[in-house]
Amino acid sequence: MRLWVKHARQVVRVVSDADPCREYLAGPAQKNCNLAILEEKDGIGLSIIIDRDGLIADIGYDDVMELKYENQTIEEIIDATGRSVLPGLVDAHTHPVWAGDRVHEFSMKLAGATYMDIYEAGGGIHFTVNHTRNASEEELYGLLKERLMRMLANGTVLVEGKSGYGLDAENEIKMLRVLERAKRELPIDISSTFCGAHAVPKNQTAEEATQNVLTEQLPKVMLMQENGELHVDNIDVFCEKGVFDVEQSRRILEAGRQAGLRLNFHADELTPINGTEMGASLGAEAMSHLEEISPEGIAAMAVKPSIAVILPTTAYLLRLKPPPVRQMITQGVPVALGSDFNPNAYCLSMPLVMNLACVLFGMTLPEALVAATINAAAALGKHKTHGSLEIGKYGDLLILNAPRWEHLVYQMGDNQQVIGQVIKLGRIIDRTVN
Ligand code: NIG
Ligand code: FE
Repeated sequence: MRLWVKHARQVVRVVSDADPCREYLAGPAQKNCNLAILEEKDGIGLSIIIDRDGLIADIGYDDVMELKYENQTIEEIIDATGRSVLPGLVDAHTHPVWAGDRVHEFSMKLAGATYMDIYEAGGGIHFTVNHTRNASEEELYGLLKERLMRMLANGTVLVEGKSGYGLDAENEIKMLRVLERAKRELPIDISSTFCGAHAVPKNQTAEEATQNVLTEQLPKVMLMQENGELHVDNIDVFCEKGVFDVEQSRRILEAGRQAGLRLNFHADELTPINGTEMGASLGAEAMSHLEEISPEGIAAMAVKPSIAVILPTTAYLLRLKPPPVRQMITQGVPVALGSDFNPNAYCLSMPLVMNLACVLFGMTLPEALVAATINAAAALGKHKTHGSLEIGKYGDLLILNAPRWEHLVYQMGDNQQVIGQVIKLGRIIDRTVN
């Protein structure tokens, strides 16, 4: 065996065999979830055993495990006395590949400029596009690596990562290749997303940009996918008033579906344009933001269901109205969380995202943990390997320097002290290197 974590005070499995649906938790299952927690009993702690392939082999009380595994060779033992263990976190929405920060825009926003004011004045995404187009693949990889290692240090073991600051075939492919290299070289799992329709390039109309995505970018990306040079999982569009309208977004998403990609896109963030209803009609796997979702949009999402990826950092920074998370949960839409890490919202920490989701959007602590584990994994189609501590899933865990898991969210802004160890596939991540 690879690793034996012993004597834990608490093991938070999130999902167990007793849950009827183990893919995601929605409605009452998210609202009333008990997180399948095992607690130390009569002084007997808990053990998790991870096999040589990095998968969870067993979970149970120390005394039972001692009898079962006493004769096995174990490569490494961690004494987790008095500590809590939970699954590695999943970040369901990020834009991690870019050059040129936008710290100057932060003060503009504090002084009252809106996100669209800055975008229409040629800043925002356009600013980042210029810098990203001018950056080499090597430079972008260096920036991405540092960001992903910081996410891992803050407990994220699986992250969705988008392209979208290239806006032409060459530069979008450059970004996807950078993500591809990170998949091969870094100890964090990545679900990559083609987002060539993230903004309308300055010299084009939205219709021309749509055509470019459909006839240039997507075919070239898919050719590389067929050759095995890229492994893209999802397609995304910024479906928004003044960017790509609902019909343009629909055409792009349909083409992505045709090409075999999962649909996972930005909908109803700044203006209510019924992007969510369109997404649900295409059977989108996930939709993000949703501050301006309509009641019909919520009902439509609940059918398949499509997973709602909620992004509290952006709503907080842009002072947007909170998305109706309580109605979503009541109506059976599985809610997931993402950091939305990007040059507008520079947040690499899912524990902080969970804190914001609870305080600003009225989520309970267990709902937020479900949203940052199993439901985020399901948004990326990775629920079979990630998002809960179950036998056969990846041995990706966080061991907290605290007796109860809630400290991860309660002790805000100092995650790396609360998280004692990050374990990825049974190996302790060295958080001192970048
Ligand atoms: O999710 N809304 C579009 N995309 C990002 C922002 C990207 C940027 O501003 O660079 C988001 O918030
Ligand atoms: Fe985004």
